[in-house]
Amino acid sequence: MNWYLLILGSSVGKKSLMAITGLCLIGFLAVHLLGNTMAFAGADAFNGYAAKLHSLQPYLSVFNIGLAALGLVHIAVGTILFFENLKARPTRYKVYQNPGGRTIGSNTMPYTGLLILIFVIFHLLKFTFVDKSVTPIYQQMAATFTNPLWVLIYVAAMVIVAVHISHGFWSLFQTFGINHPRYMPLIMKLGLVVTLVFGIGFGILPIYLLIIA
Ligand code: HEM
Repeated sequence: MNWYLLILGSSVGKKSLMAITGLCLIGFLAVHLLGNTMAFAGADAFNGYAAKLHSLQPYLSVFNIGLAALGLVHIAVGTILFFENLKARPTRYKVYQNPGGRTIGSNTMPYTGLLILIFVIFHLLKFTFVDKSVTPIYQQMAATFTNPLWVLIYVAAMVIVAVHISHGFWSLFQTFGINHPRYMPLIMKLGLVVTLVFGIGFGILPIYLLIIA
C-alpha cells in the first residue's frame, strides 16, 4: 500500500497530519503576528518590512506554495475526520476524557475552521492580490480600518481564529502523547496564553489603526 494511503487509513495517521500541519500553520501565524507589529512603528517601518519580504523572491513564492499545501492538507484531513466523527457519533465522546477535552473550541472546530478559510480567501483578496505600486500596503491597510465595519469583521475573525487555536493547541499535545495528568494544568495555561497572544495580538491592530486615523 502507498504510504499516504497508510497514513490516511489510520486514525493516528490523520490526527498526526492534523497536528503537524496545524503546528506549522501556528508557526506561520506567529511570524505574521511579529510582522504586523511593525505597523505600530508607522507607515515607513511597515512598508519597509513588506518591501524587504517581497525582495526575497523566489524564496517567498516557495514559502507561499508550501503554506498553501499545508493549509490544503489541514483542511482536507480535517474534513475527512469531521465526516468520520459524524458517522461514529455514538462513540466519539469517548475520545475526550481528559480535562479540556470538550470545550467551545472542540465543539466548533469544523465550523471555526470553515469560517477561517472564508476569512483567509477575503483577506488575500484584500491585502495580497492587490496592486501595491500606487498605494503602499500600510496605507491600504490603514484606509481599510478607517471603516468600523471592517474593524468589526477583522476583530470577529480574530476571535474565531483564537477559539480554533485554543482547542488545536490542546489537541496537539494529546496527539503527540504529552497528556500526563501532571502536565495538563501547565498545558492548559500555556494554551490560554497562546490563544490570548494570537487573539489580542492580531485583533488590536485594526482597532489601533481606527483610533489613530
Ligand atoms: C488583524 C489581523 C491581520 C492583519 C491586519 C493582516 C494583514 C496582512 C497584510 C497587510 C498582508 C499582505 C502583506 C504583503 O503582501 O505585503 C497579509 C498577508 C497574509 N495574511 Fe494576514 N493579517 C491579519 C491576520 C491574518 C490571519 C489571522 C491569517 C490566517 C488565519 C492571515 C493570513 C495571511 C496570509 C496567508 C497572507 C499571505 C502571506 C504571503 O503572501 O506571504 N492573516 N496579512
